[in-house]
Amino acid sequence: MKKYTWPLLIIFFLLGGLAMILIGQVALPPEPRPESVVAISDKWADSGHADAESLSFSLWDDRDPAVIPVACAQCHSAFGYLDYLGEDGSEANTVSDSHPVGSVVSCYVCHNPSAHARDITIFPSGAEIEGQGWSSNCAECHAGRRHSGFVENAIAALPEDEVNEELGFINVHYLVGGAVRFGSEVSVGYEYPGKEYVGFYEHVPDYQRCTDCHDAHSLAITPSECAACHPVVSTLADLRDIRMDTTQDFDGDGDTREGIFHELMGVHHLLYEAIQTYAEEVIGQPIRYAARSPNWFIDNNDTEDPIPYDNWTPRLVKATYNYHLVVVDPGGFMHNARYLIQVMYDTLEDLGTVVTVDMDQLIRP
Ligand code: HEC
Ligand code: HEC
Ligand code: HEC
Ligand code: HEC
Ligand code: HEC
Repeated sequence: MKKYTWPLLIIFFLLGGLAMILIGQVALPPEPRPESVVAISDKWADSGHADAESLSFSLWDDRDPAVIPVACAQCHSAFGYLDYLGEDGSEANTVSDSHPVGSVVSCYVCHNPSAHARDITIFPSGAEIEGQGWSSNCAECHAGRRHSGFVENAIAALPEDEVNEELGFINVHYLVGGAVRFGSEVSVGYEYPGKEYVGFYEHVPDYQRCTDCHDAHSLAITPSECAACHPVVSTLADLRDIRMDTTQDFDGDGDTREGIFHELMGVHHLLYEAIQTYAEEVIGQPIRYAARSPNWFIDNNDTEDPIPYDNWTPRLVKATYNYHLVVVDPGGFMHNARYLIQVMYDTLEDLGTVVTVDMDQLIRP
């Protein structure tokens, strides 16, 4: 008996090895791997997802106790996202606990069985979008925290132009491109009652999901890929000059060939002017905006020490919500320009019922 032990063991291992190779062939098709893990890790290390110093991952460091609260952990903590996925054994699609500080969007956040299998994104409005495959993870963290119904509830039936101390600025949150992409399907903008809004911006089949355009690790866009169909592009900055349908002049500046980015910014600029006119003429307290906290402050010409704006009316809450939304999606011109122009157009129209807003040249997509 002893005499056969070694040969049997060898045969056993050889067969085992062969079986593993065969299983491996089935599970992992021998796709070409254009990138080494080292190259991938370097790209990730230079991205915002790895930036441990950024406010996104260090805001809670000095708190006592130093934990990231349940409401914030899903997107600001690796542990929080794994908890949200249910990968830690807890219930899926909800964060069950606060989590320790000190993590970033690390490899395991995206590379674990639950994230790989995920094909649904649940938005703050409650809307559920399926069929985005792996990219549904990206949208989970880039969905913002507020939506149309939230704004509607906050203002309820309050008189439009009456200052109410219960009211304040409603901030949709930051880098919300994952929600803007889906337009009215997830209602990240404040949508005026009785108006229709476009849903998902389809673009073209091969450049539709987050990781079709964004490198999953560097997060960057590769302009040369876009240049194949958009000859105006050679550098990243040129993306702003892309324009396909040159028949409509949304912002009414007489230029139908400028990039869709500039159409969007044109309307955005008009919206800022209208908000300032409204604050001054109807509320009687001038207002200003900056892309930092407090976003809306009293126009006292002191930008060093800004005083948060404190005379809010329902009409102002809705208008400032939509204005800020466009700022916090720097890719909005690509993600869904028509949706953003629609919500801004309707905001201008709404302000135009009480102050003078010249909309004659504007076109609603
Ligand atoms: C667990 C949450 C989470 C997931 C999942 C996630 N992100 Fe992010 N993302 C963030 C946070 C937080 C930041 C801001 C990081 C910072 O401030 O340094 C960010 C930043 C970014 C940026 C800004 C560029 C940069 O370098 O900072 C882009 C673009 C981006 N993410 C795209 C994506 C894409 C595409 C995916 C899917 C492949 C994705 N994100 C998945 C949370 C997430
Ligand atoms: C749905 C995902 C999500 C949730 C939930 C969330 N955040 Fe964020 N947050 C983000 C993303 C994405 C950014 C983009 C960071 C950037 O702009 O670099 C961000 C940015 C921020 C920033 C600004 C960072 C900067 O660089 O300016 C602060 C402050 C912040 N979040 C606080 C919070 C707090 C507090 C909570 C909980 C009450 C919270 N967040 C919940 C996704 C989320
Ligand atoms: C924000 C999510 C995210 C993070 C963080 C992330 N990955 Fe990925 N990774 C992906 C996605 C999505 C793919 C699928 C490839 C694609 O669509 O580009 C991928 C693909 C890969 C691949 C296969 C590449 C190929 O060519 O087949 C490797 C290896 C990999 N990632 C390693 C890593 C490592 C190592 C880290 C950490 C340093 C990391 N990933 C962090 C999302 C992520
Ligand atoms: C058709 C291509 C395309 C698709 C699809 C796409 N994006 Fe973008 N995204 C862009 C472009 C272009 C920009 C602007 C980049 C610039 O100006 O540097 C951008 C910007 C962003 C930014 C801000 C980057 C920054 O530096 O502040 C985030 C975050 C983002 N996208 C997330 C997403 C998410 C999440 C998805 C999927 C739901 C997605 N994107 C789908 C093209 C795309
Ligand atoms: C296979 C060809 C193709 C590729 C590649 C491509 N696009 Fe497009 N793009 C189109 C077409 C076609 C449209 C018009 C779609 C529509 O709105 O009906 C378009 C529309 C756009 C628009 C909106 C223009 C407008 O007038 O509203 C932007 C912005 C844009 N693409 C950016 C990009 C970026 C950024 C990339 C690279 C990540 C890219 N595209 C890659 C074909 C392409």
